[in-house]
Formats: sequence, structure tokens, C-alpha cells
Amino acid sequence: MTTADWADVDRYLVETLVGDEDSGTLRANAEAGLPAIDVSPPQGKFLYLLGKSVRARRVLEIGTLGGYSTTWLARAVGKSGRVVTLEFEPLHAEVARENLDRAGVGDRVEIRVGAALDSLPELEAERPEPFDLVFIDADKVNNTNYVRWALTLTRPGSVIVVDNVVRNGAIADADSADAAVRASREVIEFIAAEPRLDGTVVQTVGGKGWDGFAYAVVVGDDD
Ligand code: SAH
Ligand code: DHB
Ligand code: MG
Repeated sequence: MTTADWADVDRYLVETLVGDEDSGTLRANAEAGLPAIDVSPPQGKFLYLLGKSVRARRVLEIGTLGGYSTTWLARAVGKSGRVVTLEFEPLHAEVARENLDRAGVGDRVEIRVGAALDSLPELEAERPEPFDLVFIDADKVNNTNYVRWALTLTRPGSVIVVDNVVRNGAIADADSADAAVRASREVIEFIAAEPRLDGTVVQTVGGKGWDGFAYAVVVGDDD
């Protein structure tokens, strides 16, 4: 099996089950020259269903790009919900703003432009209500930093998802010199060692190849 076969399956699933929920975001991203590294439609729907499952009202996303995953998350939180999404590139944030408004969810999404490691302390200083769900999908080398921040901004029962941790299977190589692979191993080992987190990794295949996401739940004293 190859990525082409996995892409066929993704297409079949989009036609039958996922639904074509895209309101033009992927096309607008391509026209603006953004890289096509959004979550796949089945993965986006998974994030949406996850948000629904935990009745998420507040979602934090790190890494907006053109707002494709953000749109799925924003649909999950409903009209009175809120998504805060952090993006380094002003152009990406601008394209995302247009996409989110066109999708009809712009009023529930706040995009903060800047390096996430600068935005996160600013956000914490505002003492926000805890986030129910955090989706981490930005510069991979900071994944462990982002999970640490997610821990300070959530509550027991909150869910933290980290995208792209399997990296074509390279995470099984303890000697990899690739910074993103090393960062994946670091974040997985951090989750394993952190008593406030209980986690797993779900491997995925699809139109974007072989990858996977880390899934962690924040545990409380009485869990
Ligand atoms: N979640 C998006 C894809 C995000 S791609 C989706 O699935 O639709 C990763 C994004 O993270 C890019 O837009 C990139 O500009 C952004 N990024 C990279 N480094 C960052 C940083 N230090 N802080 C915030 N965002 C960053
Ligand atoms: C890349 C980044 C992603 O977040 C992703 O899901 C796929 C690829 C990348 O930087 O190549
Ligand atoms: Mg990703």
C-alpha cells in the first residue's frame, strides 16, 4: 500500500462519511501560496467529533495556517464557544481570518499573531478559563514546551492532541538526527513521564502519508 492508495480511501471516506465541509479554505490557501499541510478532512472531522464528545466550549490551537483545522474546531464549540488560535506568520493569520469569516465561524475565533512561546505567557497572564481541548500543530521542535503550556491552561479531563508525531515511522529510530523526530520522541517521553497526563499515540495513514497524533488526557488528584 502506498500514499496513493491511502488517498483513495480518504476520498471515499470524504464522499461517504466525512462530508465535504470545506467552504473554500483549501482553495484559498493554495491561491495565497500557503503550504498544503492542513489536517486531512477525516482528521479535521475527528477533531470536530472529539470537541463534541467532550462538549468543548473553549479550544486552544497552536498553529493556525489557513484555519482549516480551526474551522472544524470552531464548529465543535458551537455559537457560544471560543477558539483561541496562535499563528506566527501574519499572512497565514490574514488568510485564516478570511477563511473563518467565510465559513461563518469568525466570531468565535480569536487569532493571535506571534511566536506561540510569546503568546502563551500573555494568554496565561489573562487568567483565562481552562481550555477543554488543545490542538498542537506548529513548529515541531517546541512540542514539549507547548504541552507544558497546555498543562497550565487546562483542567483535569481536558484533552491535548499533538499532530505529526509518527513522521513516516521515523520515531522508532532512537538515533535519528532529524530535529522534528527527536522532538516527537521528546514529547512522547514527556507525556509518559508526566503524572498529570495519561496518553497514547494513534498512528494514521491517508492522503498525507504515514503519521499519527499523540492524545493525552489531563488527570486529576482523584483519577
Ligand atoms: N493546524 C493547521 C496546520 C498548521 S501548519 C491545519 O491543520 O489546518 C503549522 C503552522 O504553524 C504554520 O502556519 C506555521 O506558520 C505555524 N507556526 C510555526 N512556528 C510557529 C510558532 N513558533 N508559533 C506559532 N505558530 C507557528
Ligand atoms: C508539515 C507540518 C504539519 O503540521 C503537517 O501536518 C504536515 C507537514 C510540514 O511542516 O511539512
Ligand atoms: Mg500538522
